[in-house]
Amino acid sequence: MSWETAWSEGRTGWDAGAPVPALVELLESWEGEPGRALVPGAGSGYDALELARAGWDVTALDLAPTAARRFEELRDAQGVSADSARAEVADFFAWTPAEPFDLVWDYTFLCAIEPDMREAWADAMWRLIAPGGVLVTLIFPIFDHADGAPHREGEPGPPYRLHPDIVRGLVAGRFDEAGLYEPTASHPGREGMELVGRWVRRAEVEGG
Ligand SMILES: C[S@@+](CC[C@H](N)C(=O)[O-])C[C@H]1O[C@@H](n2cnc3c(N)ncnc32)[C@H](O)[C@@H]1O
Repeated sequence: MSWETAWSEGRTGWDAGAPVPALVELLESWEGEPGRALVPGAGSGYDALELARAGWDVTALDLAPTAARRFEELRDAQGVSADSARAEVADFFAWTPAEPFDLVWDYTFLCAIEPDMREAWADAMWRLIAPGGVLVTLIFPIFDHADGAPHREGEPGPPYRLHPDIVRGLVAGRFDEAGLYEPTASHPGREGMELVGRWVRRAEVEGG
């Protein structure tokens, strides 16, 4: 089933109907001026709207035109201006913005793409984020540590399980780790399955 089909048939079980508490918490303690932010795989865009309310100039990117329409309806209903939060219908892996971003917020996007696209995800993050800019990944769902295995071949998804070491490996040599912590609150049913990772983009690739 394509993402657009899921959206047009209303099969959007991941949609929590509100900004993720970890983002609200992050924005409350954010140091520095808001700049240009990207939310890839934004869906209905609750998080993009939260960023816009905190002063960020936001692009809510999604492949599915129905998701973008839903975002625009929500944005208008919530009185957020189209100048501060715009929808972009595009494939994250192929899209080139006019300018790079100061912040990318990834929530339920990395876990939604096929695991064999993860290296391409990291390459795109490198292209899309300005030197010194920040990638924040809400790492979800954390895999079962007792079981110990990351995503297994043939296991159904999305979501595909994640672990901080997976993200570390993906961004190695291009981003510096600037923090990893458990948020104090989560959407109901997602408690204990989330970690927030902050990664700062280097000016140059290590050894490059
Ligand atoms: C699991 S949903 C999460 C949506 C939203 N972040 C949320 O938490 O409600 C993943 C979203 O990524 C979008 N998506 C999947 N692949 C994409 C791609 N290559 N480029 C842009 N968006 C994509 C889907 O259309 C879908 O809206």
